[in-house]
Amino acid sequence: MAAVAPPDPRLAGPGTPGEADDPSDLKFPVAEAFARHAAASGVPLGRSGNPVPEAAVSATFDEIAPVYDRLNTLMTLGADAGWRRAAVAAAGLHPGDTAVDVATGTGKLAAALAERVGPFGRILAVDASRGMIDRGKAAFPDLVQLEFRQANGLRLPARDGEFDAATIAFGLRNLADFDAGFRELRRVVRPGGRVVCLELTVPQPRVWGHVFLAFFRRMAPLGGRFAGCSRAYAYLPASLDGFPGTEALTARMRAAGLEAVTVRRLGLGSVALHTGTVPVG
Ligand SMILES: C[S@@+](CC[C@H](N)C(=O)[O-])C[C@H]1O[C@@H](n2cnc3c(N)ncnc32)[C@H](O)[C@@H]1O
Repeated sequence: MAAVAPPDPRLAGPGTPGEADDPSDLKFPVAEAFARHAAASGVPLGRSGNPVPEAAVSATFDEIAPVYDRLNTLMTLGADAGWRRAAVAAAGLHPGDTAVDVATGTGKLAAALAERVGPFGRILAVDASRGMIDRGKAAFPDLVQLEFRQANGLRLPARDGEFDAATIAFGLRNLADFDAGFRELRRVVRPGGRVVCLELTVPQPRVWGHVFLAFFRRMAPLGGRFAGCSRAYAYLPASLDGFPGTEALTARMRAAGLEAVTVRRLGLGSVALHTGTVPVG
């Protein structure tokens, strides 16, 4: 299990969520934490990280784990499978290659990568939530090339340049520090290898963006209530508040040392697939 992080210093101050007695307590006022930091969305690069303490994030996903895949498919009307296929293609892997999938959840993207590299390749699937990892392990027992590990995406259990590619799907938004997340992804990929980030984004133009956000804010908690974990599902739409847009993420990936960064919008513009390459030499 990832170490329980000390309260995020950015939340310091009287009565702030960072002072919660138990940071894994799901009564932690998640929406308020994001609202407090939404002001940062006015700066060019958006928010720099997730203001919710890591332990509360993991506890949220532990609670969601049993219903996560079903609700995902329902809320995306099945489109998530196509987004994952696009991420696999972007990783540019071949049979026998290796990759790490960070914030792997129940391991669907990791399993798709494992199919791509075949039995002589290796995929390390990392997640901070025990509940998610246990589901993933149970779901893909036959993929010998797929290994699950519980770890923090900001401190990967991997050597420098160990993998041919690193992926993160709908996980970056959860990390305490987006730049540190990109640096860590880059660190574990060999020169010439790819870093792929699939993440929700606010669609353009602005009017459509507002419609999407309103829909997402209503649908995610509704779906969560239906599945019996409404508090946890309130976290998902709130985590988009102030999240960097596609240009800002591109800039952050470049700042992390990646080159040839490209972005492709999917899901009627509501999902962004960023791909960068680790420089050679
Ligand atoms: C929205 S889910 C995405 C899961 C999966 N990648 C997918 O595409 O369905 C976000 C995942 O990020 C994980 N996560 C959150 N913070 C993390 C961290 N600091 N390190 C590793 N995983 C983290 C959560 O436990 C959760 O499984």
